[in-house]
Amino acid sequence: MIPENQQRGNFGGKVGFILAAAGSAIGLGNIWRFPYTAGEHGGGAFVLVYLAFVVLVGIPVLLAELSIGRASQRNPVGAFRVLAPRTWWPAVGALGVVTGFAILAFYSVVAGWTVGYLVKAMRGDFAAGITASESAAQFQALIGNPGLAIALTAVFMVLTVGVIQFGVGEGIERFSKVLMPAFFVLLLLLAGRSLTLPGAGAGLRFLFHFDPSQLTIPVIMGALGQALFSLSLGMGCMITYGSYLPRRENLPFAAVSVAFFDTLIALLAGIIIFPALFTAGADPAGGAGLVFIAMPTVFDSLPAGQLFAVAFYALLAIAALTSTISLLEVVVAYFVDEKGWPRAAVAWGIGFLCFLLAIPSALSQGAVPALSGGEGSLLPLSFLDLNNILFGNYGLTFGSLLISLFVGWKWGTRAALEEMKRGAGTDRAWWHAAWAFLVRFVCPVAIVLIFVFILWTGEYF
Ligand code: PHE
Repeated sequence: MIPENQQRGNFGGKVGFILAAAGSAIGLGNIWRFPYTAGEHGGGAFVLVYLAFVVLVGIPVLLAELSIGRASQRNPVGAFRVLAPRTWWPAVGALGVVTGFAILAFYSVVAGWTVGYLVKAMRGDFAAGITASESAAQFQALIGNPGLAIALTAVFMVLTVGVIQFGVGEGIERFSKVLMPAFFVLLLLLAGRSLTLPGAGAGLRFLFHFDPSQLTIPVIMGALGQALFSLSLGMGCMITYGSYLPRRENLPFAAVSVAFFDTLIALLAGIIIFPALFTAGADPAGGAGLVFIAMPTVFDSLPAGQLFAVAFYALLAIAALTSTISLLEVVVAYFVDEKGWPRAAVAWGIGFLCFLLAIPSALSQGAVPALSGGEGSLLPLSFLDLNNILFGNYGLTFGSLLISLFVGWKWGTRAALEEMKRGAGTDRAWWHAAWAFLVRFVCPVAIVLIFVFILWTGEYF
């Protein structure tokens, strides 16, 4: 057993860790990506497949990552090196570090929009009686403004680096403890409002009605990618967080709690947004701007709507921040652990490089037509969407495949279960065999089959 390294810092306690991991999981993935992906993929069929993947792939891989991290007490690259010395497995960790960097480079652009919307809400920009098309025009004005989009991305990157330079524990935990529960309560209130809107029935039917004819390969791939993205899996984020976890903590309990809250929040976001869209007569397949366009019409229908709007965007920005922190932490932990570079300098350097890489994404929403996708562009999708799918769906899915193969067939489910038993207080449990079966067979086979079908049909997104 590798001794705990106090120098690297630790999460203080069970609630602190669950909230920090939940802080990583809960973010724009739930509020921005889940509703718009569900909307584009026809609703109910997507949602059901998504839920199945959370249970069959998400929770097993989450447990796999947390055990790798805690057993090795390392960043993703070092973790594979410790558990499988003199093999090529550390390359899986390196792939994760690159994927995390690439995700951060588009995520921070969308996170910047939330800051823009917070300022708009404070200024009272969402006038009474705002229609969906007026709201869409306001959104386009914000994201299509090159200077503004870049500046907002920069603001967000600075906030992320500012927290990361002080390290986990102090930085990450303090943020998550109070604000995550507050966000949850606000979402419950907003869901209550949406459920009483005239379009509630149509919205809920869209979100929950399962129509098997909608099940296509892109829907299934999209649902898998969304489940992994939302749980921060497939790139070593949960390996890194697991490495900061004291041995007395109960990993299975933490994993199930995180998955439960993450999924609940995504569903709540859907319950808020689709009734509002159907009430406003807007298209649920409206694309990446969906939440930003839908929410102002919800606030408009509330007493003290401006107060709700300010609280919503402030908490959404913070939820995004606890996720960008976890993305940057993976890259920073790698350079600090493996190269011994000073934490603050690495954080600022990587943050700056990532900001440069984010600029084309920030400009791809109308400011620069060549990057915007579709007609007159060099790209089939906008640069931002392309990165979202390439790294968010494919990168994380490929990473999760390799992680499940590693734990299932190289390191061994027995060793991983030994790690899980520490702090769990049980020696044998019914789910041990179920988890091992999912990691060894279900996860890799499901992922490989999906990849084969994608290559076969040629439907990449
Ligand atoms: N899970 C985060 C979200 O839903 C995004 C994320 C993905 C964070 C991968 C870390 C790693 O917003």
